[in-house]
Parts: sequence; structure tokens; C-alpha cells
Amino acid sequence: MADSPWTPNSWRDLVAAQSPLWPDEAHLGRVEQQLAAKPPLVFAGEARRLRAQLAAAAEGRAFLLQAGDCAESFSDSSADAIRDKLKVILQMAVALTYAAGVPVVKVGRIAGQFAKPRSEAYEEREGVRLDAFRGHIVNDEAFTPAARRPNPERLLDAYHQSVATLNLLRAFTTGGFASLTRVHAWNQQFVTNSPEGKRYEVLADDIDRALNFMRACGVHLDEDHELSSVDFYISHEALILPYEQALTRQDSLTGDWYDCSAHMLWIGDRTRQVDGAHVEFLRGVANPIGLKVGPSTSTDDLKRLAAVLNPDNVPGRLTLISRMGRDKVTETLPPLVEAMSAEGAKVLWTCDPMHGNTFKASGGQKTRRFDDVLTEVAQFFAVHQSLGTWPSGLHIELTGDNVTECLGGGDRLDESDLDTNYTSICDPRLNASQSLDMAFHVAEFLQRAVAARGARSL
Ligand code: PEP
Ligand code: CO
Repeated sequence: MADSPWTPNSWRDLVAAQSPLWPDEAHLGRVEQQLAAKPPLVFAGEARRLRAQLAAAAEGRAFLLQAGDCAESFSDSSADAIRDKLKVILQMAVALTYAAGVPVVKVGRIAGQFAKPRSEAYEEREGVRLDAFRGHIVNDEAFTPAARRPNPERLLDAYHQSVATLNLLRAFTTGGFASLTRVHAWNQQFVTNSPEGKRYEVLADDIDRALNFMRACGVHLDEDHELSSVDFYISHEALILPYEQALTRQDSLTGDWYDCSAHMLWIGDRTRQVDGAHVEFLRGVANPIGLKVGPSTSTDDLKRLAAVLNPDNVPGRLTLISRMGRDKVTETLPPLVEAMSAEGAKVLWTCDPMHGNTFKASGGQKTRRFDDVLTEVAQFFAVHQSLGTWPSGLHIELTGDNVTECLGGGDRLDESDLDTNYTSICDPRLNASQSLDMAFHVAEFLQRAVAARGARSL
């Protein structure tokens, strides 16, 4: 609890909502010991660097783009899939930066995003009841008793896949692939001919021209670190606490504890109980923390959570991720934003327009409408505009593949297209062209937010 001392295992005395029922606790314990002996994925210094960049986004000087899969899959970890996700995120970031002139902090839902909270603990099909699928770090989606049994060995598999994914991301983001001189190469073949793909080509041509101009002026672009590499951070929902604790280490420089499984961790909408285990664990690690804020969050809940998770009011420490749903955001978000402003809380407000807009299509597939997603983002920006606060970021589920999981967008996908290429193991994701389309819209909202910020400071 908040008023008693924190230790890496103080969460164990509290209720951990959404925990799998591990059939063999001793097996889990052995795996935890193995994990605790492994190298960390990230360093404390990197998490501090991210926190400083997020502080700029809290203060209206940067924008956070947090994006990636709903749930990563053990059966889809190819280099191409990772590269294509990175490409889309880089494209979106360039579109946002170019239009609005603010730095974009890039954080992937990647290299550890394996655990899923579920609304039902069990799934029943034709009279057979099995454990719900909770993500590949716990069990498998196949509907058989063996596949659905939680298996602690999966924590080790999740660690190893995260290590491999992060290794590739580090190579891509520092080895020249993410250089601004390569903007054209991030546009994928199947996107190039779409309207948003063409719009991107125009922007990329503009950037090329600007870079040529700089070269002609004698600037050595290839030697410029700022242009030839990007800071790219990883994040996931900190749901499976035995895994998170096993990767938590004390920083030798500061003595602070860091959860070294990712730079940033977030608390889901179903595990944000102020007296629960997830809040207890995350209050004690010094990483930047996200908190999902759904329509059932009261202003009192939020004030208490902010006080527990960021008692020293450190800017960049706490990101509030609003996920209200298209129809509720205008009503539910303003009192929460006002409550935080009244407290002087230095938080980021970002918009997850995905999780409040999911529904079942007539064929039974989970889907989302591009227009609903976009409407929620527009409303989110409008709320901040009217309250004079800064919209600090966007949190979305996407993939670099040409999937058919969300309806609408440039390709005008309809329900009959959903089965063509539906590969998500959990929620429906925007495909590469829908993501780019979204980025161009958000870039316009952000431009207006920048203008409003300028007018306020006059
Ligand atoms: C998610 O981000 O995948 C998720 C489950 O979100 P939420 O906790 O907001 O429902
Ligand atoms: Co999701």
C-alpha cells in the first residue's frame, strides 16, 4: 500500500486482478529465478532519457506516438514483420513532425507486449469451458485444454523473443535504416499507390529537397547523429507481475529500482485498482508509467492514482491514456483533465482511440471503424483545445502488414473484407495505409494545437 514501504515483492500481499491461475506455482517460481538471472533488456539511463523526452510532451513541447500490436505473437516474429511495423511508425512520426514542427517521441507496443487482460476468465464453445486466451506469455489461442493451460515456460519464451526483437530494432534505428535520408524507403509497395501513400511521397520529396539544400550548404548529413538515427523506445502492459518483478533491477548509479523489461510500462483499464497489486508494483519502479483511463474512472480515483504513482509530480513520469470511446469522450474526459490541472499535476494526456470503439461484426470478428477511431481523436483534441491543455500524444494498435481488421479508411474496407487477411490474435489493428491516413489527420489536429498554444502564450 502507498503508505507502507515499497519492495520489488510488496505487490504479492495484494490482489492482482487478471492474474492467470498458474496450475503449478513451484514451476512458476523456478522460472522466476531463471529470469532474475538474465540480463536486463533496457538500461536505467535509457528509461531516464525517455522520461526527459516525455517531460517535454507533458509541457507542450513534444508529442508521444505510442503504437504497435494489440498482442505480439510467438508465431510471428520475422525480421520483415518487425521492420514493417517500424517503417509505419517512422512514417507516421515524420508526417506529424513535418506538419506540426514538434518532436515526436516514438514508443513501440513491442518487444514484450504479450499479455492480455480479458473481460471473461473463461471461454465456452459448444458446452466446453476453457481458460480464456491471455496472450502468448501465458497460454495459446487454440481452443484445446492443453493450449489454454497457463504455462510458466512461456515467460522465458517471451523474454527471449523480446530480446531478439529489441536487438533488431536497435540495429534498424541506429544502423542507417531510420536515417532521414531514407524517408522514401519507408513507404511500402502496397501503400505507394493509395492516396495516403502518394501524399507521403510528396512529403518525402520535400524532405529530400531540404536535405539536398543542406548538403549543398556543406552540412555533412551522414555524419549527423540526429539525422541518421532515431530514439525508439519499447513498452508493454505490465500485467504479469512475476515476469516484471524478475526483470526489475536496482540502478547502481541512483539506487532507484527500474523494471528493465521495457523503457515504459503501462497499467491497463482492468488492473488500475488503487489498492491493487499492479499499482503497488509500478509505484516503486522509476520508469515512465502509463495509466489507461476508461469511462468508469472517477475524478477521485484519478487523483488518488496520480498521487500514488507520481507523488513527487515529476514531469514525464505519468502518462494518462484516455480510452473513452467515441460517444463518451466529450462527456467523461473534461472533468478528469480539469481535476488534474487543478492539482497542478504534470502529466501527459494521450488518446487511445482504439479500445473504446471495438465491436463484433456480423461475421463474429472483432473490429473497429476507422471513422470512429478518428472521431475519438478529433474529440480528444477538441477537449484539450477548449480547456487550454496540451494533447500530448496518440496511442494506437497497428501493424505494417496489409491486414483487413479495421473497417473503412482509404481502402474503404467493409465487413465482407474482414476475412481476407485477419491475422491479429487479439484486437483489430490499423493496417499500414490506415495508419498513415490517421497520421495525416492527426497532423492537422496537431497543427491547430500548436497554433492555439502559440496564441495562449502571446
Ligand atoms: C490494450 O491496450 O491492449 C488494452 C487491453 O487496453 P485497455 O486496458 O485500455 O482495455
Ligand atoms: Co488491444
